[in-house]
Amino acid sequence: MSDFEHVFATPPEGAAADWTISQDWRSYTQVEHDTWDTLYDRQMKILPGRASDAFLNGLKALDLNTGGIPDFALVNPKLKALTGWTVVCVPGLVPDEVFFDHLANRRFPSGQFIRKPDQLDYLQEPDIFHDVFGHVPMLTDPDFADYMEAYGKGGQRAAGLGVLPQLARLYWYTVEFGLMESPQGLRIYGAGIVSSATESVFALEDPSPNRIGFDLERVMRTLYRIDDFQQVYFVIDSIEALKAETLADFGPIYDRLQGAADIPVETVLPDDRVITRGSQTYAARGGRFAA
Ligand code: PHE
Ligand code: FE
Repeated sequence: MSDFEHVFATPPEGAAADWTISQDWRSYTQVEHDTWDTLYDRQMKILPGRASDAFLNGLKALDLNTGGIPDFALVNPKLKALTGWTVVCVPGLVPDEVFFDHLANRRFPSGQFIRKPDQLDYLQEPDIFHDVFGHVPMLTDPDFADYMEAYGKGGQRAAGLGVLPQLARLYWYTVEFGLMESPQGLRIYGAGIVSSATESVFALEDPSPNRIGFDLERVMRTLYRIDDFQQVYFVIDSIEALKAETLADFGPIYDRLQGAADIPVETVLPDDRVITRGSQTYAARGGRFAA
């Protein structure tokens, strides 16, 4: 079905045991650097007033707009000084245990490649624009930095307990597609949104999706879709609140989840703190495949 080009079962030729490869920054072509600049400029027309301060401040602190794809040798000293995180290159999606080990050690694995000029709007697998523009600015926020490390350690635990699908939903609805409250209104912080021109607008302004107050157990029961805009977004009060809530031992939650039914993406439950009740019109019309 999917045609991922960058998925391997064991570290491919040239990769280290932890699956990292050299960024080999000098190997990027001018077309590839131009793709970064195009995507960057496009997002910066959309994100002020939509992205969270944590994201926008991080973007500024890391200086990711020096012309072309950022050189990790220049980004890492800044990131490391702020929160102890670094970004490392991997050849593509890596196995769960490899991913968790990197996060647990404050290393964010990024794809080395960038999308082709005819894929500016949609691609299924994360490239360096999604990974670095989308994820890395949030790692400059001290609470988010702690959360991501804790997630890596929590992933190692969840794998042993057989509850990875549940924990993965937490990642999906926070790290990838999270919204948060701010004094000025809802803001985006999820990497899957901030790296997408269309979803940055859809997630905040479209009448279709539900926007529901974050509830840890509720999120861990909720299915998600990987092929189109989300039908539900979960809204945290603050990064501090997210961190505080996920510090708790998930053991009792995992026990309760064993017997709990999964929640479909469009469902609104009586106990949900509904921020926006969506029309679901976009999905009902066929989403990105609508005629
Ligand atoms: N507190 C979680 C546990 O006990 C670990 C975790 C922290 C998971 C933060 C995700 C995010 O497993
Ligand atoms: Fe991502």
